[in-house]
Amino acid sequence: MSLVRLVYASRSRLVEADRRAELARILETARRLNAERHVTGFLMATPGGFAQILEGEAGSIAETYGRIMVDPRHGDLRLLAQDAIEQRQFTGWAMAFAERNETTAFIFGLYGISPETEIFEQPLDVLLDLAGELASARA
Ligand SMILES: Cc1cc2nc3c(=O)[nH]c(=O)nc-3n(C[C@H](O)[C@H](O)[C@H](O)COP(=O)(O)O)c2cc1C
Repeated sequence: MSLVRLVYASRSRLVEADRRAELARILETARRLNAERHVTGFLMATPGGFAQILEGEAGSIAETYGRIMVDPRHGDLRLLAQDAIEQRQFTGWAMAFAERNETTAFIFGLYGISPETEIFEQPLDVLLDLAGELASARA
């Protein structure tokens, strides 16, 4: 079985008034479907964008990303990486989640993501380091 890690960033199309409820809905669906397909990963959100790391069997990742790509709740998806990996980084997380808020602002800030600089503009290495830092902060 070949394990793959896919990373993308996108612009959020969530309307501010519905943002909380929509984020909860996205996570609920993501965790349910990912658990069925043994997909793990990390979703990061700022008011303007998303960045997501998906890990799993190649076929499951292709199928999952195919659905995510056409979701109208975000757009301008930038595929940043799709690599074979030896082992998962987010084992046990059907989809971890972190957003930039008062608690995490410091960590996002360390990686250069302030209210002015959006997450979808960040390069791959920054997103991977940020996800690792956020994951260890909550573990
Ligand atoms: C930012 C974002 C992240 C998402 N992450 C996942 C995910 O990890 N896994 C997943 O199955 N669906 C995820 N979704 C939801 C899918 O886009 C889609 O709504 C869901 O898979 C149901 O697909 P269906 O409506 O074709 O049944 C995400 C959506 C958004 C906007």
